[in-house]
Amino acid sequence: MLRVMSVFGTRPEAIKMCPLVKELASRPGIESLCCVTAQHRQMLDSVLEVFGVQPDYDLDIMTPRQTLSSITSKCLLGMDEAIERLKPDMILVHGDTSTTFAGALSAFYHQVAVGHVEAGLRTYDKFSPFPEEMNRVLTSNIADMHFCPTMGNRENLIKEGHVRDLFITGNTVIDALKTTVQPDYRFSTEALNKLPYAEKKVLLVTCHRRENYGEPMKQIMLALRQVAESHEEIELVYPVHLSPVVREAADRYLRGAPRVHLIDPLPADEMHNLMARCYLVLTDSGGLQEEAPALGKPVLVLRRETERPEAVAAGTVKLAGVVQDDIVTMAERLLRDQSAYEAMAHAVNPYGDGNACRRIADAIEWRYGLRTEKPEDYQA
Ligand code: UD1
Ligand code: UDP
Repeated sequence: MLRVMSVFGTRPEAIKMCPLVKELASRPGIESLCCVTAQHRQMLDSVLEVFGVQPDYDLDIMTPRQTLSSITSKCLLGMDEAIERLKPDMILVHGDTSTTFAGALSAFYHQVAVGHVEAGLRTYDKFSPFPEEMNRVLTSNIADMHFCPTMGNRENLIKEGHVRDLFITGNTVIDALKTTVQPDYRFSTEALNKLPYAEKKVLLVTCHRRENYGEPMKQIMLALRQVAESHEEIELVYPVHLSPVVREAADRYLRGAPRVHLIDPLPADEMHNLMARCYLVLTDSGGLQEEAPALGKPVLVLRRETERPEAVAAGTVKLAGVVQDDIVTMAERLLRDQSAYEAMAHAVNPYGDGNACRRIADAIEWRYGLRTEKPEDYQA
């Protein structure tokens, strides 16, 4: 049996890797192992519960206000033991977090092959997103197999000289969405069942990025406050990330504003179904930029750049930046100008067709001689 160990630690990695852990487990020639770093604790556990995945090994590294160095060093030390115990033939890491980079580096130290899921995203600005852009570049240099969500991601890697074992698979987040979004979904958070989705415009907000800490986050939150104060027709729902830095900013700049609902992080299925019913998404998250277009929801990105240009090109995502006036202007246009809204509100799926996990598992089987056919690339 080929022992394939998926390593992840944060909420978004878990949402995007749990479907793959399950797909690998369904293959007769593969033993699917799961090692979590628990860079996030509660937010990770919530995802594991939604998808019914039980880790084989848990590094349990999270501490409050953890630094980048502490995450990386604790992951490295913990991974030594996980690799020695579980003896994987291949390690899969996802995306661009500190867990991703440390997981790949540890695999390299143990001379274990690395597959990088969600490979090839780039902004070409090493400080934005920080530290994710450098985590991706370093992980690409270690990886033996690169699973690119889109053709553009593969082109980025080719430009950097990575020419072997590149696969275009689509993003596994679309596989996840297919299992979570249901038309007749009932929220276990009762307040979400009661939101007036038809009578009012529900704005769904998230904001957590490290490069937005400080002044950009203040500007973003003051913009949200201004929009909420001046528009009676909206309800603004913001599930606030558990980072204390983010929670302090939300408390300081948004709490008590009319029509603003600051709530705890939602389980992934609740979040996806809320997104399916909302009017507009405002976010600095990567995952939401992929999910909302698939659900036909316009997105204003609360950042200066994005490594996900495909939905911008398709017209459903716009960069709003991190300056209060700019964000307010762009949000108000989508509230007041129905034709501007309609122009953005169409479902596009540049990020996948829901079969990314199947393609990744097929590619691994092919590389290890368990299958003769190389999987066909995903085409948007
Ligand atoms: C991390 C990733 C980022 C990703 C984000 C997704 C890095 C450097 N950053 O950022 O790429 O977009 O996750 O959400 O890898 N906390 C809890 N409980 C939790 C989760 C977090 O209390 O379940 C608190 C802790 O105090 C922790 C802090 O949040 O120290 C920050 O977590 P951390 O993983 O360091 O950074 P994120 O901003 O979450
Ligand atoms: N998400 C969630 N509950 C929330 C907020 C977000 O399940 O309260 C999901 C969201 O739908 C997406 C993922 O978490 O799938 C995005 O994670 P996050 O924004 O933390 O990180 P990023 O994508 O920016 O790395």
